[in-house]
Amino acid sequence: MITKKVADALRNQLKNELESSYLYLSMSAWAAGKGLKGFSNWFYVQAKEEMYHFFKFYHYLLDQGEKVELPAVAKPKSEFSSPLEAMRETLQHEQFITKSINELVDVALSEKDHATNAFLQWFISEQVEEEASVGEILDQLELIGENGNGIFMIDKELGQRTFVTPTDLAL
Ligand code: FEO
Repeated sequence: MITKKVADALRNQLKNELESSYLYLSMSAWAAGKGLKGFSNWFYVQAKEEMYHFFKFYHYLLDQGEKVELPAVAKPKSEFSSPLEAMRETLQHEQFITKSINELVDVALSEKDHATNAFLQWFISEQVEEEASVGEILDQLELIGENGNGIFMIDKELGQRTFVTPTDLAL
């Protein structure tokens, strides 16, 4: 059993995760339209990962006997000036998500809710990984600037990313 305060905070995170998925799918579509197949693939995998995050919150709320009502999702931005801009916005977005997860932990701790705190620890580690991997790509993009060959090479590399189907949820 969880308190209303914790449940409301977790329900709010459903929206954050859905909007994350939607944003990255929009970036994927934008990249595909620009012929950047690898970037498109990377954002597509990212969108799927965000849906997985959404489903983790969704099932946790249901497992705790809470009501789940799906939120309205805002229309994401669909135009970007360059892969660099898209990746900068990705990092900013992930920093926002990290902040939201930290705030969720604060709520869980203030309610002495150890189960929710334990549940959230996976997300704490995940955000460290997410920020690090996006930061690495961003560093490369900043290094090469407008260089077409460099973009081509990074695009090839990002095309290798695959979505690893999680085993803890039936998706
Ligand atoms: Fe669901 Fe990228 O954080």
